[in-house]
This record gives sequence, structure tokens and C-alpha cells, in this order.
Amino acid sequence: MTTTTYAFDEFVHDMTVLVDGQPDQERLFDLGSSYLERLVNNPDAVPEEFRVPAGSRGRSANHGSYILHRGEGLAITSVVWGPGDHISAHDHKTWGMIGVMNNGITETRFNRKDDGVRDDFAVLEVDRKTLVKPGEVSLLIPDVDEIHQMDNTSDRPTVEIHVYGKDLKGLDRCMYNIETGAVKNFSTTRWDNC
Ligand SMILES: [Fe+2]
Repeated sequence: MTTTTYAFDEFVHDMTVLVDGQPDQERLFDLGSSYLERLVNNPDAVPEEFRVPAGSRGRSANHGSYILHRGEGLAITSVVWGPGDHISAHDHKTWGMIGVMNNGITETRFNRKDDGVRDDFAVLEVDRKTLVKPGEVSLLIPDVDEIHQMDNTSDRPTVEIHVYGKDLKGLDRCMYNIETGAVKNFSTTRWDNC
């Protein structure tokens, strides 16, 4: 019996063709998420070194972020959340797709309830909390549905593939303090955020 798997290079090719065609948002997410679902259903498509926490190699031993592809209008990383790993509410300022390869991740999504006039203050309300399971893809829609918090509450690492329309390196984004309403601008000198 022949088993057909979806290789990482095929995924990059398909996503590149899709993005180069300048699709509208519906087509981008429809086709893109179908490609990403195929990819994350085959964890072996990504080398094991990119599916483990960084340990002494990284800024946080319990976390891993690895650039897998950087192209025009397309950035692909693998992100590993170790047990107890967490990132608080933040936005992305680009479209994105997150596919879970194993285990699962608790994703909390927020709605911004204020008028958005102030750059340093925002009122966020929890919209939903979801345990995203292996093989599932969640979407990041700029200005509509893109503020989230991530938690790995399990005792095993979770591996995800993140796909973005912009390179996150140097991209101006925001972290949100849901208790005080404070908004903090940030950008990173590396791609290793999510
Ligand atoms: Fe994120």
C-alpha cells in the first residue's frame, strides 16, 4: 500500500502560489487552512529539531521558535510550547494561521470593546477559550479577530506551525494587560515570537 504524505516543500510551494495570486481573504483562508491541515496531520514533515523546546539554545528553555521559511508575503515558523508555557494577550498586525501538530493548546481570544482611539489603553473582553487539538487550524484576522493568549496547561510539549503574511521580525505590534487596560507596543529583532 502506498501512503501519500504532504511534504513541507509541497506546503511552501502551495502557499507561495496561493499568496502570489493575491487572493481575497476568504480564498486565502479556505485554501491556506486546507493546506495547513494536511501539513500538521503529518508531523514528520518538519524535522524533529524544530519540534522540541529550545533548551539551552533559546531564550526560554521551555519554549521553541524556529524559522522554517521566509518569502515574499509569507513567513512560516514552528513554535513549541513546553508544559506550563504561556504568552499573554497580544496582536499580530497581519493575517495568520496556526496549525496544531500534537497534544493541544488552550487559546483565549479577546474582543476589543473600546473605540480604539487610544494607543496606550484598551478594554478587552474574553470572546472564547478553545482547546485547539492536533490537526486543527485557527485563523488570525487583522483588526477583526487576532488578539489572543496561549497556554499549554498539559504536561507535554505542543508543536504548532505558524503561517503569517508578514515577517514578524521588526513588526510593530501590541501586548495587552487585560487587568489594567495598558497597551504596550513591541517589536522583536528576531522572528521568534508568535
Ligand atoms: Fe500570537
